[in-house]
Amino acid sequence: MAETYRVGLLGHGTVGAAFAELLEQRADTIVPITGIRPEISGVLTRSRGSFEEILENSDLIVELIGGIEPAREYVLRAMRAGKHVVSANKQLLSQHGEELWACAREHGVQLRFEGSVAGVVPVIRVLQESLAAARVERIHGIVNGTTNYILTEMAGRGLTYEQALAQAQELGYAEADPTDDVTGRDAAAKMAILARLAFSTPVHLDQVVYEGIQHLTADDMEYAKELGLGLKLIGTAERVDAGVSVRVHPAFLYAGHPLASVQGPFNAVTIESDTITEVTLSGPGAGGPQTATAVLGDVVSAMIPPASTPETTEALPVVNDVESAFYLHMEVADRPGVLAQVAELLGMQGASIRSVVQKGLGENARLVLILHPLLESRFYAAVHLIGQLDFIRSRPRAIRVIDEEFIS
Ligand SMILES: NC(=O)c1ccc[n+]([C@@H]2O[C@H](COP(=O)([O-])OP(=O)(O)OC[C@H]3O[C@@H](n4cnc5c(N)ncnc54)[C@H](OP(=O)(O)O)[C@@H]3O)[C@@H](O)[C@H]2O)c1
Repeated sequence: MAETYRVGLLGHGTVGAAFAELLEQRADTIVPITGIRPEISGVLTRSRGSFEEILENSDLIVELIGGIEPAREYVLRAMRAGKHVVSANKQLLSQHGEELWACAREHGVQLRFEGSVAGVVPVIRVLQESLAAARVERIHGIVNGTTNYILTEMAGRGLTYEQALAQAQELGYAEADPTDDVTGRDAAAKMAILARLAFSTPVHLDQVVYEGIQHLTADDMEYAKELGLGLKLIGTAERVDAGVSVRVHPAFLYAGHPLASVQGPFNAVTIESDTITEVTLSGPGAGGPQTATAVLGDVVSAMIPPASTPETTEALPVVNDVESAFYLHMEVADRPGVLAQVAELLGMQGASIRSVVQKGLGENARLVLILHPLLESRFYAAVHLIGQLDFIRSRPRAIRVIDEEFIS
């Protein structure tokens, strides 16, 4: 009979309950891998269990409560007591990661968190282990399934944002309060964690600039199709001259980009480095059984030899003004010279135009431009001036474009 490895479970909601069930089902298959049988030694919820008792009776603690407190306190206390911890809590790691990783190093325990980013997609392990020898230049991610589902429905079926959101809520892809998802904050937390691992520099959620999808219209989708572009909520973490840039915003992608084909509630992450070109990982980004699979994978890893998140070795500034290509959508009076004036103002800021689509709307016209990359501050300076021209009929709308295409 194999020895028992005692797993204390904090939280028994969507992921916690799925984790307990999965552990029970998979215990027999884990024994040959680890030589030990994992077993739940206690469960804590708001109405049952005692943290002190669970801590006393466990070799490892799984934190699936979510939020900051009391999750932070429990994770710290568990590690100080010499227990490994597995968590899927992106809010906690993106805001208190340095404190928690330092505590893990100090006490010689593991803190594993695969489920915190992109559900079951094993991006944390790939960054920490498989690609440990690569100098990562950039990560692009679709790391929020709710928004990817909404955008897929808007693009594919012509739904408005409101219709697509209502449908996502009906199907359980979006919460009753979808604020964190649709504003980009959830994705920002995940990108902060990925940036920290990729660049070995501290990155806090507060340093991530994020923008959501609420202002996108079916009209943007239509133009995008015509220009051969797909619209996604993209998280970016990249090295730039002055440091690193970490941001989340809607962006257009050309069809050759590996993230362009990611549909519905799926997540995907593309890691770029000179030596490896790019590696893309994709799969279900949320859900109880899916996330529980990542959490149990972490438990199995913790039962075998050590892994830890090393101290940060860099102190790179997080930079906000970076170069981007842009889509610019304007309604203008349909008269001669309009495009020339717009082009002149853009040209003064160093912008050059990649493609143009113009459509008549009676006395007015819609003008959509795709611009080659330029510094965002210079682009918005031009847009500000364009917005004041007398032939502009509605506020110009801008969306970033990711213009790389990888050879397949
Ligand atoms: N759901 C997903 O698809 C998903 C995907 C990736 C990552 N995650 C992450 O996984 C974690 C858990 O998410 P979830 O969706 O499973 O959450 P959930 O369904 O809301 O479950 C939370 C659990 O924590 C318990 N809890 C809450 N406050 C507590 C407290 N003060 N003391 C003790 N227990 C407390 C709740 O107790 P009661 O049962 O008494 O209410 C419940 O059992 C979060 O960090 C989340 O970000 C979730």
